[in-house]
Amino acid sequence: MISGSVTFDFSGQVAILTGGASGMSLVAARKFAEAGGHAVLVDIDGARAEAQAASLPGALGLALDVTDEAAIGATVGLVMERFGRIDGLVNAAGIPDTFLPTVEQDSNIWRRLIDIHLTGSYLMARAAGRAMVAQRAGAVVNISSAIAGVLGALPRRNAYTAAKTGITGLTRALACEWGRYNVRVNAVAPGYTLTPFIQQNIDRGNLDKGAMERRTPMGRLGQPAEIADVILFLLSPAASYLTGATIAVDGGWTAYGAAGDAWAEPD
Ligand SMILES: NC(=O)c1ccc[n+]([C@@H]2O[C@H](COP(=O)([O-])OP(=O)(O)OC[C@H]3O[C@@H](n4cnc5c(N)ncnc54)[C@H](O)[C@@H]3O)[C@@H](O)[C@H]2O)c1
Repeated sequence: MISGSVTFDFSGQVAILTGGASGMSLVAARKFAEAGGHAVLVDIDGARAEAQAASLPGALGLALDVTDEAAIGATVGLVMERFGRIDGLVNAAGIPDTFLPTVEQDSNIWRRLIDIHLTGSYLMARAAGRAMVAQRAGAVVNISSAIAGVLGALPRRNAYTAAKTGITGLTRALACEWGRYNVRVNAVAPGYTLTPFIQQNIDRGNLDKGAMERRTPMGRLGQPAEIADVILFLLSPAASYLTGATIAVDGGWTAYGAAGDAWAEPD
């Protein structure tokens, strides 16, 4: 079995999930709602967030650009008004880099990527963290990257690599500051996972699916549900003494150090 066997109980809890209209964040929102929680799906694509939330019990979908500081304040305020608490925050909003050679890159693309992935995670954590610190309870889950944030770097993806590496640092800094308030901050660092984010890069010829599979000891890409399960674990009391960690969920990608392909037909 790949995934789906894990069950959690989030009855009465509230979690905000950025990028909640798609990919791993949407699957995490679905699992959170199925486990009894109120999932607040926020996304720059507000219509999609609303439509997805409408199919989940107790969920709410809202338009939010995570680079818009004033809108973040208003959204967190609205969630507090509606539910009175915030137990979880999942910072998963993101866009891919351009794959352009550095000498041809536009600095606006650099700024936009850093703004969404890194500053967006910071602004969301700060806003939700105010409620969590006051409650003396909460869990933040940031999304780094096994390949661009933990193991090394991706050429021609400067901003993406810098943002994902920065997210592991932000995760540690917030964890150390908020540990005393029982607010835990961790990151999940996915390997290549089959979401629209990756599929569009495979379709554009930016990524070679076969090569990625062969470089992975488990010989396949991850499924969004496999990342979502670890996100839910980090939100849950099962992770009550876990903070400041970045957990690679990557089918063994970061563990592999030899030359060439990691996967071969089983004997
Ligand atoms: N899929 C992978 O292989 C992979 C690997 C490592 C890390 N990640 C990271 O995981 C996270 C989720 O990616 P995914 O693969 O589920 O992608 P996805 O494209 O399916 O979902 C990303 C969502 O973020 C939203 N978004 C983009 N800009 C936004 C903004 N400014 N404000 C609010 N929402 C915004 C998009 O509308 C989209 O719904 C991203 O941070 C990505 O960098 C993905």
